[in-house]
Amino acid sequence: SGPATVSPTGSPTGADQARMAQSGSHLTNAQGTRLYDTDHSLKAGPRGPVLLQDHHLREKIMHFDHERIPERVVHARGAGAHGVFQSYGTASAVTKAGFLAPDVETPVFVRFSTVVGSRGSADTVRDTRGFATKFYTSEGVFDLVGNNIPVFFIQDAIKFPDVVHAAKPHPDREIPQAQSAHDTFWDFVSLHTEATHHTLFFMGDRGIPRSYRMMEGFGVHTFRLVNAEGRTTLVKFHWKPKLGVHSLVWDEAQLINGNDPDFHRRDLADAIEAGAYPQWELGIQTFPDTPDQTFEGIDLLDPTNIVPEELAPVQPIGLMTLNRNPSNFFAETEQVAFHVGHLVPGIDVTDDPLLAGRLFSYLDTQITRLGGPNFPQLPINRPHAPVNDMLRDGMHQTAVHRGVAPYQPNSLDGGCPFTAGADMGAYIETPVTVPEGRKVREAPESFSDHFSQPRRFWLSMTPVEREHIIGAYTFELGKCYEEAIRVRTLQVLANIDPELCSRVADGLGLPAPEPTVPLADVEPSPALSQVGGTWPVD
Ligand code: HEM
Repeated sequence: SGPATVSPTGSPTGADQARMAQSGSHLTNAQGTRLYDTDHSLKAGPRGPVLLQDHHLREKIMHFDHERIPERVVHARGAGAHGVFQSYGTASAVTKAGFLAPDVETPVFVRFSTVVGSRGSADTVRDTRGFATKFYTSEGVFDLVGNNIPVFFIQDAIKFPDVVHAAKPHPDREIPQAQSAHDTFWDFVSLHTEATHHTLFFMGDRGIPRSYRMMEGFGVHTFRLVNAEGRTTLVKFHWKPKLGVHSLVWDEAQLINGNDPDFHRRDLADAIEAGAYPQWELGIQTFPDTPDQTFEGIDLLDPTNIVPEELAPVQPIGLMTLNRNPSNFFAETEQVAFHVGHLVPGIDVTDDPLLAGRLFSYLDTQITRLGGPNFPQLPINRPHAPVNDMLRDGMHQTAVHRGVAPYQPNSLDGGCPFTAGADMGAYIETPVTVPEGRKVREAPESFSDHFSQPRRFWLSMTPVEREHIIGAYTFELGKCYEEAIRVRTLQVLANIDPELCSRVADGLGLPAPEPTVPLADVEPSPALSQVGGTWPVD
C-alpha cells in the first residue's frame, strides 16, 4: 500500500486497514510517515549520546509505556469466543424480546473468567467462574453477566467491596494469588453466614471445572420478563452445556496449574479451532410475578437462594454455539465491557439489592478500566443496531458526529419525535408497584435463613461429591494460620450437617461443635449434583 492518507470525511482508509493488518511495503510512524530505520536511536555519532530530538524513539517508547490498561478489579483472568445464539421461540409467550422470537439468530461474544486471580494467574484454581454473554440483538445489546454457580456470597451489593477484599490476596504479602485457602477469606465467610451456600458450592466440584466447555452458567438473580401483552413473569436464566457438567479432582487441578497454567484458555481455543464447537442451551425457570416475589416459600429476591429444578423445571429457549476464536485478545477479550444494565425490551430487572448495586458498578468501573465514557464505541462493544444517542465528545471519542443540535427536543436537526403511548419498540421499564415503607438500612426477615439451602445442597450430593467437599474444606482450612477461624468455620459446618462438620473437624484435629440452629428439614435436589443430575440435552 502507498503512503498513509486520510479521506476528507475522516472515514477509514486503506492506510488504517494496513496498520491493523500489520502489512504494507513500508514501516511508518503513527502519523503515516515512512521510516527508514527502527532499530537505532538517533545519536551524536555511533558511540555518542542519544538525542532528545529523536521523535521516532520517543513515539515508539511512549506508546509502549502505555500499552497496559488496568485489569478488571475482579474477573481479571479470562478467555473469550464469538458465536451465535439460535432462538427456539419457546420464550415468546413470556417475553417480547425480539432475539427470543422463533428462529432468530443473534451473534454473541462470551467471556469466561476466574474471579479472584490477576490477569496472569493460573486457570485451574478453586474459584467461581464468570460466564458473561453479550447478545448483539437487532434491538440493542443484551448482556447476561452470570457465573457458573447459581448463588452469590452476599445479598446486598454494599458488601461487595468487603467480600472481594477478603477473597483477594492478603494486602501485606499479596499471597495467595488465586486460592481460597487463606485467613481473610475464611474469616469473612465464617463471620458472614449468608456466604455459606456459595462457599459450599465452590468447595464442591463446581469450584474446579474440567473445562469452560463443561460448565453451567447462571444469571443468579431473578429477572422479570414482559410479553407483548405487557404480562410479566419472573425467571432465572440457566446455561446447560451440551457436553455435560464435568470437573477436575483437586490433585489434577493442582498438577495442571503447574504444567499448564493456561489449561482452560487453551482448551477453549483449541476446541474451537478444531471445529469442536462448544454449545449450551439457554433455559429459564419461570415463576408467577406475585406481589411477594416468592416461589414455594423461597424469596426470589435473595441471590443466595436457588429454586430447585424439581420444583421449577428449566425450559429450553435457545442454543448457543461458540464457533470463532478472537483474532486479537486485547481488542476483544480485554476490551469487552459487560453490564447487567444492558437490557432489551422484554427483559427487566427485579429489586434484588445485589443486582441494584451491579447496575451501578459495571459502568462505573469501565470508565476507569477503558479510559473514559466512550468504550461503547470500541469494536467489540458496538451494538448491531443503529445508535442515535446524543452522547458527545469525551475522552477517546472516535465518532465524528454530525448535526448542530445534540439535545431533545430540537427543531434544527429533524429530531426524533417521542410519540406518547406509541409502540416504538422502545425499552420501557415495567410499571410494577413498589412496596411502601420506611427508609431503612435493613434486610428483610426472609433473608435471614442462611443454612436451609446449604443443607439442601449437601443432602443433594452423591457420596463421591461429599468426599470432595470434605477434602476441600480440610485442605483449605488447614492452610489458615488462625485457629479461631477454623473453629468458627466448623460451627458453620455443624449448622449444615453433623457428618460434614465431624469429618472436617477430624481432618483438622479439632473437636466438632454442636449445631446452634435446628437442622433444616429439606428435600434434596438431585439436579444440584453433577453426577446425579444433568439436564436432558439431547
Ligand atoms: C465483573 C459476574 C456481582 C462488580 C464480572 C464478570 C462477571 C461477573 C461474569 C466478568 C465480566 C467480564 O468477563 O468482563 C457477577 C455475578 C455476580 C456479580 C454473577 C452476582 C450475582 C457483582 C457485584 C458487583 C460486581 C455485587 C459490585 C457491586 C463487578 C465488577 C466487574 C465484574 C466491577 C469488573 C467489570 C469490568 O471491569 O469490566 N462480574 N458479578 N459484581 N463484576 Fe460482577
